[in-house]
Amino acid sequence: KNILFATSECVPFIKTGGLADVAGSLPKYFDKDRYDVRVVLPKYNCMYQKWKDMLEYVDHFYMNLAGQDRYVGILKCEYEGVKFYFIDNEHYFNGFAPYEGDPKWNIEKFAFFSKAVLSILPVIGFRPDLIHCHDWQTGLIPVYLDNFRYAGEYYRGIATVMTIHNLKFQGVWDTKTVRGITGLPEYYFVPDKMEAYKDANLLKGGIVYSDRVTTVSQTYAEEIKTPFYGEALDGLMNARSNVLSGIVNGLDYTDWNPETDPRIAKNFNIENFRKLKQMNKLALQEELGLDKDAHVMMIGIVSRLTDQKGFDLIDYVMDELCQDAVQIVVLGTGDPKYENMFRHFAWKYSGKVSANIYYSDELSHKIYASVDTFLMPSLFEPCGLSQLMSLRYGTLPIVRETGGLKDTVVAYNEYEKTGTGFSFTNYNAHEMLNTIRYAEQIYYDKKRDWNKMIERAMAEDFSWNNSTRQYENLYKDLLGE
Ligand code: ADP
Ligand code: GLC
Repeated sequence: KNILFATSECVPFIKTGGLADVAGSLPKYFDKDRYDVRVVLPKYNCMYQKWKDMLEYVDHFYMNLAGQDRYVGILKCEYEGVKFYFIDNEHYFNGFAPYEGDPKWNIEKFAFFSKAVLSILPVIGFRPDLIHCHDWQTGLIPVYLDNFRYAGEYYRGIATVMTIHNLKFQGVWDTKTVRGITGLPEYYFVPDKMEAYKDANLLKGGIVYSDRVTTVSQTYAEEIKTPFYGEALDGLMNARSNVLSGIVNGLDYTDWNPETDPRIAKNFNIENFRKLKQMNKLALQEELGLDKDAHVMMIGIVSRLTDQKGFDLIDYVMDELCQDAVQIVVLGTGDPKYENMFRHFAWKYSGKVSANIYYSDELSHKIYASVDTFLMPSLFEPCGLSQLMSLRYGTLPIVRETGGLKDTVVAYNEYEKTGTGFSFTNYNAHEMLNTIRYAEQIYYDKKRDWNKMIERAMAEDFSWNNSTRQYENLYKDLLGE
């Protein structure tokens, strides 16, 4: 069977968050005898030159969008056994970042992408049995597909799956403008189709017109049926609950492997982490100008700096936390208020807090390998990959019990000696601080228990093996194999 992944970002070519990790690794793990899984994404000008150099021209044609004929270039490459197609158009994809520009511009950009994805199919000679769409940027694909089937046989009977990686982002703009951009008939712009609260909503279109809807953890699939997590679409999620399910993300275990990772100072494994993780810590402290101390509990944060991730809680108790014997290292970019907050604390507690306000794959690997605990007090978290990376590198997550964090981190139980991290329930700064302090207590006073917990964390299996089988079952179900 032929499967096409449509995505706005994909490792190693372009990444702003976890979606890229998923789109770039999951396709590798399908049973190759049964599924030919290929990926299509935009050819962004901001991709590193080394990736652009890999691409091979296939063909081009012109496609109408918003009343204009637009160039659609097709490029391709094969990477780690997966075929990738890139849609080229310098008008839309020449920014410094994938989602640069105002919402309206992004809607036009991804309307173009979505229509182009369907339009290139006859040209590349790959007719998918199923198109797997990811997030609002591809929400128009199932809608266009519905519309295209009137145009001819070719587009009839292609199944669709919509995976929601983050319900917060929906692609919303006023109906009239979106009608104009997409060229779709009025028929689609009503409340039981693409319209929500009088506006056009691209993700809603994708959810309504897909055969199956998935999210990236089971808990998030339940949560989004409630008003608190539903981002005003909880009614729709309830209405679609018979086709809605959650499949937890995996991690590319070849890329994220402390035993072979070339980016970290000292490779280690479940047998020898005790000394070697410390050596990574010393190397990181040296690199970032922190006080050199192999024994201090180091807390790591690698994240988009947005409200989603719970940074207001950290802001609230940071001064208190910094009275403790801890070091805090942050890597992230995003909302200026959080960028400045961490810069401020790094200045105020120099030697103790390190703020790295930029994007770096290399530093992220070093942090996962070096710190003792990883802090992720998210307000909501569809899945979260950072905590999986932490577990893999023997770094114990401290998380709020929501979404994928709840499904992947087992809270420490000191009586039963179980667990792989620490968690708290309420979105409350002192509940978080108490949990961090509880972790400090175990770290400093019960080192044996701490190390046992690291062993359990490193022994967990969040490779793609399990989850890929679940996607295969979903496809099988849908394609009637
Ligand atoms: P989200 O997709 O919501 O951002 P995830 O936990 O699923 O959250 O994925 C985030 C991914 O992005 C992780 O791989 C994390 O290491 C990475 N990441 C986030 N910010 C940075 C940064 N500044 N530098 C390097 N990697 C980052
Ligand atoms: C989104 C979510 C994150 C998830 C990622 C990949 O960005 O915020 O929780 O892990 O997508 O599915």
